[in-house]
Amino acid sequence: MRLKDKVAVVTGGARGIGRAIVEGYAREGARLAIADIEHDVAVAAAREIGNGSFAVPLDVTRKDSIDAMVAAVEAKAGGIDILVNNAAIFDMAPIEEITEKSYDRIFAVNVKGLLFTLQAVAKSMIGRGRGGKIINMASQAGRRGEPLVAVYCASKAAVISITQSAGLALIKHRINVNGVSPGVVDTPMWDEVDALFAKYEGRPKGEKKRLVGEGVPFGRMGKPEDHVGCAIFLASPESDYVVAQTFNVDGGQWMS
Ligand SMILES: NC(=O)c1ccc[n+]([C@@H]2O[C@H](COP(=O)([O-])OP(=O)(O)OC[C@H]3O[C@@H](n4cnc5c(N)ncnc54)[C@H](O)[C@@H]3O)[C@@H](O)[C@H]2O)c1
Repeated sequence: MRLKDKVAVVTGGARGIGRAIVEGYAREGARLAIADIEHDVAVAAAREIGNGSFAVPLDVTRKDSIDAMVAAVEAKAGGIDILVNNAAIFDMAPIEEITEKSYDRIFAVNVKGLLFTLQAVAKSMIGRGRGGKIINMASQAGRRGEPLVAVYCASKAAVISITQSAGLALIKHRINVNGVSPGVVDTPMWDEVDALFAKYEGRPKGEKKRLVGEGVPFGRMGKPEDHVGCAIFLASPESDYVVAQTFNVDGGQWMS
């Protein structure tokens, strides 16, 4: 068991990729704090997983909520060894139709929320003096712009950049900050993506999803479980010398 007795916080861990990572970490012996805005779903997930796992309410757009989450995990589990900064939202629109509201929402969750969760957990880890592992969930959308997806792509490019800066800043405390960059993954988020492509590209529902899956060199869309191995590696001592990197886990979509 590579994460035995470690305490891991997974934001957005109630469903999708976060949920698969929660299950993978639990199998490796970690105690999970599932921190999600969908608290009831997180409570049910924690109950299923067992192993001392628990749910903590979290809205990453509110700093008071982030601070309360960190305090709650410290009180319940004694400290945080691993953070997976996974919570994010998606939206898209042609450049001429992007609204200020959509921009603010995406950046509030995907960038500001990720940065201040990282900050709060890093402070806790530094105070404890035992180092730690922080894994930020980026995206292939952060590697290259897309005509209809300017804001989400920019938010994920920011995640890759924050991973680099925080990785360099925190390694002196033996806190490794790295990222995972999925490609196209069959989760509830991609159902929203498909519906938006149907709207803006005039496609039947499900067509975009099928086409992107066929375009992946591996031959299919990613599944949430495909990301667990890399997330375990980045949370384990095996990655101690890996600093400020973002790993593509995308079936061969992207090379960088
Ligand atoms: N699905 C894909 O194709 C894909 C591709 C590349 C990257 N990603 C990234 O992987 C991560 C997980 O994606 P997913 O597809 O599993 O998404 P998802 O929408 O299925 O799950 C996201 C989770 O985040 C939670 N969340 C949303 N807003 C929150 C907030 N303000 N505070 C706390 N929790 C909040 C949701 O409740 C949900 O449980 C995200 O960072 C996403 O950008 C996904």
